[in-house]
Amino acid sequence: MPKKLIVANWKMQPQSLAEAEGIVEAVDGYFSQTGEHSTTAVVFCPPFVFLEEVAKLLGQSHLEHQAFLGAQDIAVSDDVAQTGEVSGPQLAKLGVRYVIVGHSERRWKLGESDEVVNEKLRDALRNELVPIVCVGERERGAGDRWRDELATQVRATFAGLSADDVGRCLVAYEPVWAISTTPGARPDTPDAAAASIQVIRDVLSRDFGVADAQALYGGSITDVNALEFLSNPAFAGVLVGGASVRKDEFVRILGAADAAAS
Ligand code: PGA
Repeated sequence: MPKKLIVANWKMQPQSLAEAEGIVEAVDGYFSQTGEHSTTAVVFCPPFVFLEEVAKLLGQSHLEHQAFLGAQDIAVSDDVAQTGEVSGPQLAKLGVRYVIVGHSERRWKLGESDEVVNEKLRDALRNELVPIVCVGERERGAGDRWRDELATQVRATFAGLSADDVGRCLVAYEPVWAISTTPGARPDTPDAAAASIQVIRDVLSRDFGVADAQALYGGSITDVNALEFLSNPAFAGVLVGGASVRKDEFVRILGAADAAAS
């Protein structure tokens, strides 16, 4: 059975390096206990300021096969004239393997367009990073409009990419209304999220020739609902925001992933 992937999107947290260390140590402790039996892998996506330190911690841990480093964003190109940005080669040199692109907080709060996300996605691929490509509708109004919104976003996000390149991406379905910091947020249900992922898969299959895209779900995942999502074969894993910095809860989510696989 393939490993379930738990992506920890720390966003702009934690506030101190000591807290960041505490989260990695808690995960190290979990995997020291479960050892080879675990079928779960973690991708830590700390803010840029903690990347180097988390890379060192992972190097000293027992997590070689179980935890990987991810970044939360990447510049659109390797051109140095981009104040405030961080490039693909800089990330790769730190040992980063995954990078989140197109997170809804960047799309909707910072105005990142589908074209910019597409450029970032291409840059990640050029630098041999695995893009975790976030897509998801903003609202779920009455009727089917959200499906068109989602399909259009997927088409524009991956525009012009080859089947080979699309096949190297992980797609994270994150409906904005389900993200814990959205006012009135509620998690999607596994069945409904699986149906949305089918909308995404249909576009990737029809327009890009990729029939078996790997998909994650993200949006208000907690230690209470993780098991039901991770037990559903539609999801290769989950993308966890708020709960990924609550270390005890995060370890319980890892436990849910292993329980789902057993
Ligand atoms: P959440 O965040 O788990 O706090 O809802 C998910 C995300 O925004 O990636």
